[in-house]
Amino acid sequence: MNQPPFSDIVASLPSVTPFVGPETIERQQGSRFKVRIGANESAFGISPQARKAMSEMVSGLSWYCDPEGYELRSALADMHGVDLEHVILGAGIDDLLGLIVRLFMNPGDAVVASYGAYPTFAYHVNGYGGRLETVPYRNDRNDLLALTDQATKQNACMLFLANPDNPTGSFYGSNAISDILDRLPPDCLFILDEAYLDFVPPDTILPIDINDPRIIRMRTFSKAHGMAGARVGYAIAHKNIASAFNKVRLHFGVNLVAQVGALASLRDTKFVADVVQAVAEGRQEYNALAQETGLATLPSMTNFVAFDFGSSECADQVMNTLISCGVFLRKPVVEGLDRLVRVTVGAPGDRAVFADIFRAVMKEIQSG
Ligand SMILES: Cc1ncc(COP(=O)(O)O)c(C=O)c1O
Repeated sequence: MNQPPFSDIVASLPSVTPFVGPETIERQQGSRFKVRIGANESAFGISPQARKAMSEMVSGLSWYCDPEGYELRSALADMHGVDLEHVILGAGIDDLLGLIVRLFMNPGDAVVASYGAYPTFAYHVNGYGGRLETVPYRNDRNDLLALTDQATKQNACMLFLANPDNPTGSFYGSNAISDILDRLPPDCLFILDEAYLDFVPPDTILPIDINDPRIIRMRTFSKAHGMAGARVGYAIAHKNIASAFNKVRLHFGVNLVAQVGALASLRDTKFVADVVQAVAEGRQEYNALAQETGLATLPSMTNFVAFDFGSSECADQVMNTLISCGVFLRKPVVEGLDRLVRVTVGAPGDRAVFADIFRAVMKEIQSG
């Protein structure tokens, strides 16, 4: 029996699983992690108001959700001072990234991102047959000038930037971001992934200009709102672009419970402010822990801190040892960033467990 052939694009893709979850490692190791601080999830739970709204909505699950996500989009539009028609919902930024690639890229087109940038963009670009042209990080930050130069050189249809950045945690303020728009080549879309923006002081953020059709901004409920498992994100864009999403998006993709949860969380501003504060404290604690063990950390505007081990060998050794001791962590794999291990800010109890294990592992490695 012949198997029908896969499409040319799919046949050309590697058969690796791009995202190995902690659950997979737990199954392989045969034991549960003690501390889960590897995927930049929030250790501070979800808003009690979101929990209540979601619990109440469970009994409504026999009905399809509102495909327009009207109430949530209205609340988001109000919050950002834009009209409803500029707001697009998706099952997280990861979902929106795939839709954007599908909307703007033809097979063979060039797109630009940093080498080692948040990988889901590259995943979708590969999946739709695009050509990813990268630019190395410079001093552990996205090299904005080189990114726009590369976009110009490659005649790129899209330029991707996560700001704040994953995996470095670095951040550029409004002037630097608006400079990108000044240097952007014609017909190139600027995809600004702002997953961690809740952790940034508001006065440093470039105001949203919904009349500029060259930029899409994306936010998520996965980080400060603590709802990564619910899968809710949104984009804000020019109305022509926003309406084009309706051609490709999965209309019931943001489920009923997720929609009401996100709406309630959006209204619980105190909860989110408390999380942001708690995360800032956690980052300080990690910086102190690194210092105590003779390590540097990168400045971070996110819910994680990148510890610098100086070499990829050392970073690999520490991370693998920590994983075998029950601490779930991840690290960048690309040259230049592979000396880093990214540590998500856990709850205070998790941080204490991590700190004990980390000190013991470092002592062992440093003495041996
Ligand atoms: C830069 C960046 N963008 C997007 C995401 C994923 O966001 P979402 O859960 O909304 O898909 C992450 C998650 O770690 C991230 O680091």
